[in-house]
Amino acid sequence: MKFFIDTANLEDIKEAQAMGVLDGVTTNPSLMAKEGIAGKENILQHYLNICNIVDGDVSAEVISTDYEGMIREGEELAALHKQIVVKLPMIEAGVKACKYFSSKGIRTNVTLVFSAGQALLAAKAGATYVSPFLGRLDDISTDGMHLIAEIREIYDNYNYETQILSASIRHTMHVVNCAKIGSDVMTGPLSAIKGLLKHPLTDIGLKQFVEDAKKMNL
Ligand code: G3P
Repeated sequence: MKFFIDTANLEDIKEAQAMGVLDGVTTNPSLMAKEGIAGKENILQHYLNICNIVDGDVSAEVISTDYEGMIREGEELAALHKQIVVKLPMIEAGVKACKYFSSKGIRTNVTLVFSAGQALLAAKAGATYVSPFLGRLDDISTDGMHLIAEIREIYDNYNYETQILSASIRHTMHVVNCAKIGSDVMTGPLSAIKGLLKHPLTDIGLKQFVEDAKKMNL
């Protein structure tokens, strides 16, 4: 399973990259705003900064909600750097734009997906990635993981090449359960990635090994 980090924070991206486990980055307008990135030039430069840190795909989301605007923005984003993937919202204009970009060989990530039907449409439109938001479903007492399993089943039934990019990951068990179900990618915060390291028996065991190593007079 590929690990993407869901942030526009350069320090978090650098830290995940330095661990050697990072396969890409996803951003959205809220994450960019959180870092205080404003103005077109600064936004484009920030995407370039991210591309220069990681080797893999970097999702950059369009702001427009109309088809023409999405095409204009998406073409500009795709031309910025070969690692950029154009992120489009799951609305009719977004599906149409996804079809346009996939026919041009431009990679896409269809976001704000909350149902299997929406994921089916994204695959039909040739999306490179589909982003079901599992944490936000869990937030409203709906089983987000069930949606990931449904999409996996549908995509496997027809050998769709669209990759399931499980998004809105909140914690380590989301990551582990996504891996069990067969999500192609997960995107989450640095805390969800680093949380996978944690086990008290590892800490106790290492403490003991370090103490016993002292007896070896190295
Ligand atoms: O990038 C989209 C998605 O991951 C948002 O996550 O935590 O705002 O629900 P969250």
